[in-house]
Amino acid sequence: MERTLAIIKPDGVARGITGEVVKRLEGKDFRIVAMKMIHLSKKQAEGFYAVHQGKPFFESLTDFMSSGPAVVMVLEGEDIIARYRQLMGATNYKEAAEGTIRKDFATDIEKNVVHGSDAPETAAFEMAYFFNHLEIVS
Ligand code: CMP
Repeated sequence: MERTLAIIKPDGVARGITGEVVKRLEGKDFRIVAMKMIHLSKKQAEGFYAVHQGKPFFESLTDFMSSGPAVVMVLEGEDIIARYRQLMGATNYKEAAEGTIRKDFATDIEKNVVHGSDAPETAAFEMAYFFNHLEIVS
């Protein structure tokens, strides 16, 4: 059993597709074991995306991620990190496969609706950024 951190980003929440994303998760057996809505401050967004500090898109990304509420979730299941990344599609929606969330809903490489951890180590950091162990159901 593996866990990963999933985010419905401010563009997804603002456009009213939170329910659609959750429906796709539940329909494909991604168990949601924690979930809440949060409006990140600029500083909190910078801390979350610290690995991207120095990249040309860092300023804009952290402005965007602190621009409105987002939904953060912990997903659990076998091979969940890879399975959820497949369901999301490529970071750049133009390269995302048919039927993925980003292919269907993203409008821009930055405003790409969803985020998912890319490895077990990043998942551990990212889950702990938003949830303590009492907030994750077993
Ligand atoms: P995410 O999967 O959350 O990881 C980093 C985010 O940076 C990415 O999704 C996009 O929202 C954003 N981003 C903006 N420009 C780029 C880029 N050129 N390459 C990768 N990520 C980018």
